[in-house]
Amino acid sequence: MTANTNTRNVKSRHDYQPPAFIISTVKLCFELDNTATKVTSVMQLQRRQAGAPLKLDGQHLQLLSVAVNGKQLSEHEYRLDDESLTLDTLPDSFELTVVTQLSPQTNTALEGLYLAGQTFCTQCEAEGFRRISYFLDRPDVLAEYFVTIIAPAEQYPFLLSNGNKLSEHIDSAGNRVVQWHDPFAKPCYLFALVAGDFDRLTERFVTQSGRDVSLELYVDKGAAAKGEFALQALKRAMRWDEQRFNLEYDLDIYMVVAVDFFNMGAMENKGLNIFNSKYVLADAGTATDKDYFNIESIIGHEYFHNWTGNRVTCRDWFQLSLKEGLTVFRDQEFSADMGSPTLCRIDAVKLIRTAQFAEDAGPMAHPIRPEQVLEMNNFYTVTVYDKGAEVIRMLQTLLGRNGFAAGLALYLQRHDGQAVTCDDFLQAMQDATAKDLSRFALWYSQSGTPELAVSQHYDAPSAQLTLNLSQHTPATTDQPIKQALMLPVQIELLFADGTKQQHLLVMQEASQQFLLPEIHTEPVVVWLEHFSAPVKLKADIDDRHLLFIAGNASDGVARWDAMQQFWSRKVAQAIAGNAVEDVLPEALVSMMASWLQQPEPDLALTAELLSLPDFDTLAEQYQQVPVDGILAALAGFKQLLAMRLREPLLQCYQRLPLSAYHYDQAAAAQRRLRSLCLHYLALSAVDATELLQQHYQSADNMTDTMAALAASQQAQPATFNLLIDDFAQRWQHDALVMDKCFALVASDPAEQVFDGIETMLRHPLFSWHNPNRVRALYSAFSMRNPQQFHRLDGKGYAALEQVVGKLDGINAQVAARLITPLLSWRRFDPVRQQLMQAALQRLANIPGLSNDVYEKVNRSLT
Ligand code: TRP
Ligand code: ZN
Repeated sequence: MTANTNTRNVKSRHDYQPPAFIISTVKLCFELDNTATKVTSVMQLQRRQAGAPLKLDGQHLQLLSVAVNGKQLSEHEYRLDDESLTLDTLPDSFELTVVTQLSPQTNTALEGLYLAGQTFCTQCEAEGFRRISYFLDRPDVLAEYFVTIIAPAEQYPFLLSNGNKLSEHIDSAGNRVVQWHDPFAKPCYLFALVAGDFDRLTERFVTQSGRDVSLELYVDKGAAAKGEFALQALKRAMRWDEQRFNLEYDLDIYMVVAVDFFNMGAMENKGLNIFNSKYVLADAGTATDKDYFNIESIIGHEYFHNWTGNRVTCRDWFQLSLKEGLTVFRDQEFSADMGSPTLCRIDAVKLIRTAQFAEDAGPMAHPIRPEQVLEMNNFYTVTVYDKGAEVIRMLQTLLGRNGFAAGLALYLQRHDGQAVTCDDFLQAMQDATAKDLSRFALWYSQSGTPELAVSQHYDAPSAQLTLNLSQHTPATTDQPIKQALMLPVQIELLFADGTKQQHLLVMQEASQQFLLPEIHTEPVVVWLEHFSAPVKLKADIDDRHLLFIAGNASDGVARWDAMQQFWSRKVAQAIAGNAVEDVLPEALVSMMASWLQQPEPDLALTAELLSLPDFDTLAEQYQQVPVDGILAALAGFKQLLAMRLREPLLQCYQRLPLSAYHYDQAAAAQRRLRSLCLHYLALSAVDATELLQQHYQSADNMTDTMAALAASQQAQPATFNLLIDDFAQRWQHDALVMDKCFALVASDPAEQVFDGIETMLRHPLFSWHNPNRVRALYSAFSMRNPQQFHRLDGKGYAALEQVVGKLDGINAQVAARLITPLLSWRRFDPVRQQLMQAALQRLANIPGLSNDVYEKVNRSLT
């Protein structure tokens, strides 16, 4: 860390100190007002450390009064600055009353209490409660909350907070007054308040032990029908957690509120989840299959936090993966059980190989349990979440499903009601299974992507197969020295006679040899089945064997992966100067043709087997990313396949039956394969305009509509321009659908993308204050449009730079997320490096730059 960053108050994991005081109960009273909300907080505090002052966190607050045991303090009896309120002389046990005022309407950061349209709502994780009231804003201070909300009755029919409703009445001034009590002690990041007018959907759920829970889903007025799927998904999640992990819900009421302004996906506030409306609202006309999938998975994710996150929470924010890695793992397992395990796994692997490997290779590299943090919001990362989930998955592989379930049960029972660490979690896993996990623990402290090199040697006379494995983790920007990790390597042996054998190799050293006896013919080895460890595999498997694995492995993920490896090699050969026609083996074309003629039982797997790796997956395989080479090779291969496979593609496309839209695994898989065929067909030399038009016109759902738009965009620009105009016209009043339009416009590989973005910025639904709108345009542009983002004239980089600069003053958290693609400038050629670096430098020079953007820019430039 540079001296410069230190001046900005970087916190280190090792500096953890228990709090000097605890807060056992809090009574909060909110008198809601758009610009002058009054918050009265009455807290019971107990001293835990002799002599220490009480330093409460608070930001962007106007302090109205402070009292200790009912006695008002004068200004010289406390110290106040921009970030804290400090009291020096205090008894060991006392009541503290703090009254503050704040302005939800001018809160554009969407942290603390803010207005989402007309709705008051809160977002307190990670450190947003300090924008509501002075408090010990840290996850290891667990308090019991009593909340009173007061607001004009007519305008605010619903006043919600955590836990159970104690009372509701309308006072003489026409205000609605509602009282809530949450019986479970919780950290303040799980506090929530919502006030507004909604459509409410209700359901009942009877838990396995017979508790009757009322489920309530709140959506914008008029949107009730779009909430039905989310509500049913919630019931499925509740049942699943009972069946898989024996975990039951614990309150009488579970509320989910959808809001239109939200920084992330959703938030697990106790008993009162708040969701980005994008992850709640769905119907066939407006949501894609992917949207439905995401809704189910995020509904599950937030519900599963009730145990992994809320009942047992984090001691400090460095432990974030304790709740997030574990909960992502749980939501992945849920999604797998609800749909296709293979597809879920493939999607998870893609994310690790693109975004997570890139994070490890860039300036923000950090272990799943970070060591140093300036702005906590910057560490809600793919590393903490998704690599964190891979680490949990490896534990399950090593301990077995039963061992893992026993470990989780012990962890939750031992630490119920506590704020704990990742070490506590591992200890419980170890105690429940009597396995030594000391080496495994390195996964929490070591950053970077291990490279696993493998080879095999077969000795016929002794019938012995020798497998050689060696691991090496390259240095990362945060950590030069790496150690050998514990790696579960699942393999399958494929024998010529069609028989198969599975083995789990547990690697513990830098280099290891595994001897398999009684192997009577030399098998083909399928390495890293199910992507059993988040590593880069270096295996020298020839084309013929890769195609054999793609056709024959038991695991769909391994089959898909063999194709990905195959294509990576072909792309490398094309970049090295070979013509695409010369490197494409005939065997491949006929194999792909046969998949089209006789698809797998899981049509979505067929679609994945027929898909080339995307730009980001390929980019991660190069020290210096050959931008133009990758783009040219991908385009060349796709074009060639489209021509060579035209007949089977067309037949497959036509053979897949069309039926009225319904979201389920089989129907979604069918649409996925059909879309893939359409995509290739659009690229074949024969004019595909009619086919695309027809696909678009006959679609009775958003999935097929988007498929036609996306396919035409890559191959038939004139058709695309016609269709997107129609689309924009048709959906001009629907913000969530317009987000899809924004994203499409921004991913246009042609130069007209800049005009398109300009036009969309003037759209009545576009707002710089709404993260969904901004992300729709600019995440798509910077992350899904490599052609234009990486232009050699720097126009793409400059566009992102400007947006980040502008957004920093509005919503720094979102600005800091958008900047990611610029951070890895060192991975590109000198011309692009220089352009990206200059853009970052200009951002660094902005006076008053937020901690969020500063931390990333600074790490990237130094
Ligand atoms: N805990 C939330 C989740 O994973 C994440 C989250 C929601 C969040 N809103 C946030 C994190 C705002 C930081 C800031 O489900
Ligand atoms: Zn989460």
